[in-house]
Amino acid sequence: MKKLNIAIIGTGFMGRAHSNGWSQLPKFFSVDYEIVLKAVAGRDEEKVKAFAEKWGYEEYTTDWRSLLERKDIDVIDILTPTIEHKDMAIAAIKAGKHVVCEKPCALTYKDAVEMAEAAEKAGVVTYLNHNYRKVPAIAFAKQMIENGKLGKIYHWRGTYLQDWIMDENFPLTWHLDKKKAGGGPLYDLSSHAVDLARFLIGEPTSVMAMCKTFVKERPVPGVGAATFSAGSKNDGLLREMLPVTVDDAAFMTLEFENGALGTIDSSRFAAGRKNYNCFEVYGSKGALCFNLERMNELEFYDNTKEPSESGYQSIIVTNGKHPYVGAWWPEGHIIGYEHTFVHAFYEFVEAIQNGTRIAPNFDDGAKIIKILQCAQKSSEEGRKIRVDEEL
Ligand SMILES: NC(=O)c1ccc[n+]([C@@H]2O[C@H](COP(=O)([O-])OP(=O)(O)OC[C@H]3O[C@@H](n4cnc5c(N)ncnc54)[C@H](O)[C@@H]3O)[C@@H](O)[C@H]2O)c1
Repeated sequence: MKKLNIAIIGTGFMGRAHSNGWSQLPKFFSVDYEIVLKAVAGRDEEKVKAFAEKWGYEEYTTDWRSLLERKDIDVIDILTPTIEHKDMAIAAIKAGKHVVCEKPCALTYKDAVEMAEAAEKAGVVTYLNHNYRKVPAIAFAKQMIENGKLGKIYHWRGTYLQDWIMDENFPLTWHLDKKKAGGGPLYDLSSHAVDLARFLIGEPTSVMAMCKTFVKERPVPGVGAATFSAGSKNDGLLREMLPVTVDDAAFMTLEFENGALGTIDSSRFAAGRKNYNCFEVYGSKGALCFNLERMNELEFYDNTKEPSESGYQSIIVTNGKHPYVGAWWPEGHIIGYEHTFVHAFYEFVEAIQNGTRIAPNFDDGAKIIKILQCAQKSSEEGRKIRVDEEL
């Protein structure tokens, strides 16, 4: 069997999630390639070596550029902070590699367009990891909407809430620096919510937003301090205070091409909400509600039934006929967050096999970043911004 050699860059949260996804893929889905965990790139030699041993990578390096010239690497999977995405993706594309990249696509619309154009020119497959599209219940929601179960869509309500930086002493990690992250929850969380809205009901045409930063400055991790990410605590090695340059919460109202009116709100200051990713879609014939914390379920309201007999019903999306789940366990044996990565990689490898595309890709990434930048501009200028307006 032909080999598909994978190299990942980044050994943090996503390094683990993607390595798990690549490892599981051939065990549950049938693909025409042998998936090989070929190499991992990181910054710290000791850490990347330990990571390679733990996850079964054949090799490791502290120089991600060394992966580019290698003929025996087919896919580069970028799992680094947003500031790194554009240079890494374009370099990989120019080297003829297929590319997986974590969201948000890039710091700016301009950068994301460059990534999309480079991929188009090189003819490689790109996948942008808005993995929630690959949740069976959400893929099933898409089928229901396309089959007309909701009729004409009136409303989208998307919400994505977390609470991991509510401690004012939480350090100034890359997530809180606009130059490295592009934005706060607007980029980190609303990028997912915008992706789902576009996937399920269509393109937004205008945006009106308010963004807010509650904690204006935070301590910088000092020399010797641990690497910080979500869930880190101040370890006492923190030094000077520097300004937070991203939003802590971002609320937007959107108009859609199909006439629908929607809202998308995201925050890292919603106490008790750890990864509260929800949406509601309301149409003339019915409604659908989803909550990631109960990700195997989809709430459906059938508005065509007798009012006296109607009410929300819970569909348990674990039937073999539902998207993706037939590859896993018998009905009712639920799946989780990590499975979405496997579904995405399956479709990505199929696209390579068949010479087709997968969505979302860098074109989608550019459209999403445009909407997020319109939201930033709307918040700064206090006015509604058309998505086709020049930034
Ligand atoms: N899809 C999801 O569910 C999801 C969840 C969390 C994060 N993300 C995204 O994944 C990306 C990474 O986030 P994370 O939480 O894994 O971050 P993290 O801070 O946990 O890990 C980032 C990794 O990148 C490495 N890195 C940074 N610069 C590098 C370089 N020049 N060369 C080699 N390695 C480098 C760091 O050493 C670290 O291992 C971000 O774009 C983030 O938005 C996606």
